Amino acid sequence: MKAAHPRDGVLVDRYDRVARDLRVSLTDKCNLRCTYCMPAEGLPWLAGPELLTDDEIVRLVGVAVRRLGVTEVRFTGGEPLIRPGLVGIVAAVAALDPRPRISLTTNGIGLDRLAPALRAAGLDRVNVSLDTLDPDRFTELTRRPRLDAVLAGMAGAAAAGLTPVKINSVLMRGVNDDEAPALLRFALAHGYELRFIEQMPLDAQHGWDRAAMVTADEILASLRREFDLRTDPAERGSAPAETWLVDGGPARVGVIASVTRPFCGDCDRTRLTADGQVRACLFATEESDLRGALRAGADDEDLADRWRRAMWGKRAGHGIDDPTFLQPARPMSAIGG
Ligand code: GTP
Ligand code: 5AD
Ligand code: SF4
Repeated sequence: MKAAHPRDGVLVDRYDRVARDLRVSLTDKCNLRCTYCMPAEGLPWLAGPELLTDDEIVRLVGVAVRRLGVTEVRFTGGEPLIRPGLVGIVAAVAALDPRPRISLTTNGIGLDRLAPALRAAGLDRVNVSLDTLDPDRFTELTRRPRLDAVLAGMAGAAAAGLTPVKINSVLMRGVNDDEAPALLRFALAHGYELRFIEQMPLDAQHGWDRAAMVTADEILASLRREFDLRTDPAERGSAPAETWLVDGGPARVGVIASVTRPFCGDCDRTRLTADGQVRACLFATEESDLRGALRAGADDEDLADRWRRAMWGKRAGHGIDDPTFLQPARPMSAIGG
């Protein structure tokens, strides 16, 4: 095993994984309150001065793209659509050379209105979270009556060409675990690509219970009662989602089985929080501060070197099954998934 991080080039770790996919959280705030994510009253949000400015975000993404070999940039939240400068940030990142692919993971609220401007700014595609198609259930689950807004957001994204529109669904036992086939029927009817996600121990309330989690095997069994699922011949690469062809294809459905079928060995991600901390892993318990260095006047190469060092320390896996596993202090909503 190599002892020290490389002084130049890409974001490589001790296990020879290279991070080319940068996930940037633009805000820790959200306009929904999904029960598996946040308490009803919300969370203590980051204070304004702690947040990276739009220019600081673009500067750091530029360092990642020009000096560190990042080719994919994903904006997340909280809810990224509530960041006022979003369209300008996307435009500035699309103007970088080399131009990265740019995507957004959102709850979809307001996306119908914003999709054309985001498309024009250079956004390539979106993933929208949707756990239920039942309006009452949606309101119970997210604590806001906004199902129609989410559905309109997806339709607006597709109409604006932000495709493929992917849907993320988290199934919870006794809440919406009967809805897998209905969600897939909906996705097929609209040409959206659906993925189910195993719930991970990242909720602010620390209420995750492995025994209650709906597993990939259960999700697939439920889908197979209505659909024929065959292994997708397409290369998976480092994608968290394992995919299946539905009824012969070309439509597919995915499962992101972080808990029962971890994919850490192929991970190609690096993360930047809204307050300028690098996280080597979704589950990292340590972060590396880039904001302080940036505001103290560090040059691009210094920032790149700090980022390389942060990724060099990435652990082999999330360790959810280890008895010593510790949930990170920062909740999912402040990491961005
Ligand atoms: P696509 O490239 O569009 O397929 O994106 P994605 O599935 O990687 O990203 P998205 O933002 O839609 O996230 C979907 C789910 O995957 C969320 O629950 C994320 O938390 C989870 N996820 C994304 N990256 C990772 C990762 O590196 N590790 C784990 N365990 N889960 C991840
Ligand atoms: N486990 C798995 N997925 C989660 N998400 C939010 N919290 C969790 C969790 N604890 C999902 C959201 C969204 C995506 C970014 O992450 O539903 O689709
Ligand atoms: Fe908001 Fe996403 Fe958390 Fe739901 S899961 S409250 S949409 S950040």
